[in-house]
Amino acid sequence: MGSMMFKPIRQYLFRLREMPLHAERTRSLVERMNESLDHHLQHSSREAPKAVDELERVTRYQTAWNAYARGWEQGPCHQEGGHLGDEWGTREFEKGIFTRFCSPYLENHAVVLEIGPGGGKYSAMLAPKCRELYCADVAEEMLKRTAERLKEHGHVAFVKVDGFDLHQFEKDFFDFVFSFDVFVHLDIEDIFCYLREIWRVLKPGCVSVIHLASLLSTGGWQKFVAEADLNRAQFKQAGRFGFITPQIAEKFLMELGFEIVAIDTEINRRDFVVVFRKPR
Ligand SMILES: C[S@@+](CC[C@H](N)C(=O)[O-])C[C@H]1O[C@@H](n2cnc3c(N)ncnc32)[C@H](O)[C@@H]1O
Repeated sequence: MGSMMFKPIRQYLFRLREMPLHAERTRSLVERMNESLDHHLQHSSREAPKAVDELERVTRYQTAWNAYARGWEQGPCHQEGGHLGDEWGTREFEKGIFTRFCSPYLENHAVVLEIGPGGGKYSAMLAPKCRELYCADVAEEMLKRTAERLKEHGHVAFVKVDGFDLHQFEKDFFDFVFSFDVFVHLDIEDIFCYLREIWRVLKPGCVSVIHLASLLSTGGWQKFVAEADLNRAQFKQAGRFGFITPQIAEKFLMELGFEIVAIDTEINRRDFVVVFRKPR
């Protein structure tokens, strides 16, 4: 009777001894920890894959901005025939930005990239002034709205990017790269990596204009402090601001090899615009 009771346990112990798991258990914790660390280091230092269509990396940028666009379609501005983005500034301000930061770098034959067109506010001003316009956005719902607004223009392409890189475009492809109200929402690493991509896709001798948020400005500091508790650890608000400083922007651009044409900290009391050139 007694031996019959213990038989299954003996069988179980035998099986356990044969299992590879047994070997795993006898290895030291330090060994396993180091292996785990190696694994993490290997994977975190790995270069971002260049062709990632098949991987479809979904970022919080994509989720948040798709949700914004869907919500906007239910709101009063849409019902009244307005455009997505009208809510973010005055027409006068936008025209001022375009005249100051786009017009000088546009010629009729220019091939232009706009990163984060949203509802197409700046795209609508860029399109008539260039040969080809590529609107690249992480949110397909935004691209839908831009495409709707620019449907009369046959020379505009709408490109869904994943927020990591601009691998869809060849090197030395664009005469002008513009982005407004987009980098103010990016984490510092995403800002740097996008600038590195701009270096790759911009033609030598050509200019890019990017709008950023400054922690050193009065408005930037106030916003940062007011929202700090809402953006701790992985709990980030949708569309939260990513503040840097003009000095950090300068450091990034110089390290990447750009020439700085201008850094304008006067556009409002929170943000700044960098104008930079890839040398010939
Ligand atoms: C505040 S809206 C600004 C839209 C437009 N530039 C304007 O001034 O009206 C931000 C836009 O950037 C896009 N965006 C956010 N993160 C992005 C990323 N990492 N790469 C490309 N587009 C992004 C959003 O989907 C959205 O269309």
